[in-house]
Amino acid sequence: MSLIDNHLAIFDPVTDLDLAERYLTDWPRDTQGKARVILRPRTAEEVADIVRICASAAIPIVPQGGHTGLVAGAVPSADGTEVVVSLERLNRIREVDAANFSMTVEAGCILANLHAVAAEHERLFPLSLGAQGSCQIGGNVATNAGGINVLRYGMTRNLVLGIEAVLPDGQIWNGLRKLHKNNTGYDLKQLFIGSEGTLGIVTAVSLRLFPKPTQVETAFLAVENAAAAVALYGLARRDLSDLLSAFELIGHFGLELAQEATPDLRHPLESKSSHYVLMEASASGLVDLAALMQRFLEGAIEAGHVLDGTVAANSTQAGALWRIREDLVEGQARRGRHLRTDVSVPISDIASFLAKTDAALAATEPRAIPVAYGHIGDGNLHYNVLPPAGMAEDDKPAFLKRCEQVVYAALPEFGGSISAEHGIGRAKRDSYLKGLAPAEKALTEGMKRVFDPQGIMSPGRLFEA
Ligand code: FAD
Ligand code: LAC
Ligand code: ZN
Repeated sequence: MSLIDNHLAIFDPVTDLDLAERYLTDWPRDTQGKARVILRPRTAEEVADIVRICASAAIPIVPQGGHTGLVAGAVPSADGTEVVVSLERLNRIREVDAANFSMTVEAGCILANLHAVAAEHERLFPLSLGAQGSCQIGGNVATNAGGINVLRYGMTRNLVLGIEAVLPDGQIWNGLRKLHKNNTGYDLKQLFIGSEGTLGIVTAVSLRLFPKPTQVETAFLAVENAAAAVALYGLARRDLSDLLSAFELIGHFGLELAQEATPDLRHPLESKSSHYVLMEASASGLVDLAALMQRFLEGAIEAGHVLDGTVAANSTQAGALWRIREDLVEGQARRGRHLRTDVSVPISDIASFLAKTDAALAATEPRAIPVAYGHIGDGNLHYNVLPPAGMAEDDKPAFLKRCEQVVYAALPEFGGSISAEHGIGRAKRDSYLKGLAPAEKALTEGMKRVFDPQGIMSPGRLFEA
């Protein structure tokens, strides 16, 4: 054991091989890594000590949250050189300031637990995603996570007031302000949001809270096609007075995948349609939300945007509708290795993008099974692809790569992005770097050098190692 390993050994490394397994892969299980050592510090000071020791010998580090990232960012490299720093033990609530509509929490807090803490104070922390029972707020900040409420509350970036982070030389940067307005120079916290562990380790965050909704309306609607869903979205934004909080597109195959994962999941409508919208509006004030929703739906049906639909009568029914959306992701995962994308285009181009990509995929990879769904209000689609039944495991990576190229090829015409919410990690690094303009690339690389001149933070993610 080297001197450095001796120094790191005082931080109680994970030595149990069965336990270690969960730090060496992540939710998709497509990649498997090896770690030099797995550490689970309890305080920001301990994180700083670990980083200082690693920095003294230029040892690479990878921070880990809840292992739900979808771009292989948190998985240690296969060569076993990286020190894994799991934030799971940094999970204290430092402060809830309800009057300031803010709370300050440590990076390892599980997102769903933060929802509960905010609710105890009659507040809402609106970041909401399928992985919320496992993902950590530090991971959400590092990936600038999106989810289903972005159209109303914004991405994680819009929800962060301050950050505490350990820099790659082991200094603790205390940027934990809870101010709603602060215009003093460069806003450094923004650089950490979405940096995917490449600039430092987030140890705590101050978050923006909102009034807790007291009324929620959830509807599952059949629409003719994606264009009708987009038209319906415009109507909903207007008629629901910006109280719209979620607007998701689901294809019929997505519903079938959800039923594969949960066989007792019922189709909520009498008849089958090719496309559905799952939408939610919420309010906390004196507004009559049920009446607003009813008037909106009457208008939508009259305008021919809605073919059929149901409105949840209570929170149990609403939960059953949301399970379709969540279990569809699980159903895909059960089909094994597949292509996951999180592209974005202008909302107005969603239908054209889908039509174009469907046609291009059918022409070039006719055996591909597309599953397109997503966050219509953000122009963010998960245009995913399952390989055909029976394809050999060894053939899948190359096949899915070809499908990814077809999906990405349609983006430039619409000024689209290859990542609206999951980030780059290692999975999308080459496509990301290829798409950077020279000036953008120089600035991005320069930024990395300023923060991390030795290149020890999460090497190979975003940048080549
Ligand atoms: P991890 O997976 O552990 O790590 C992700 C990245 O962040 C890695 O690069 C890691 O090194 C870095 N990191 C983690 N913690 C820190 C830290 N404290 N400091 C610095 N770097 C850190 N994403 C969306 O945006 N919208 C969705 O709707 C959505 N739905 C999902 C549904 C499912 C079922 C799953 C499995 C994932 C989903 N995701 C979604 C992916 C999303 O990126 C993650 O769920 C989440 O934001 C990652 O958090 P985590 O704690 O699991 O991070
Ligand atoms: C979703 C994740 C995969 O929206 O981003 O389901
Ligand atoms: Zn998503």
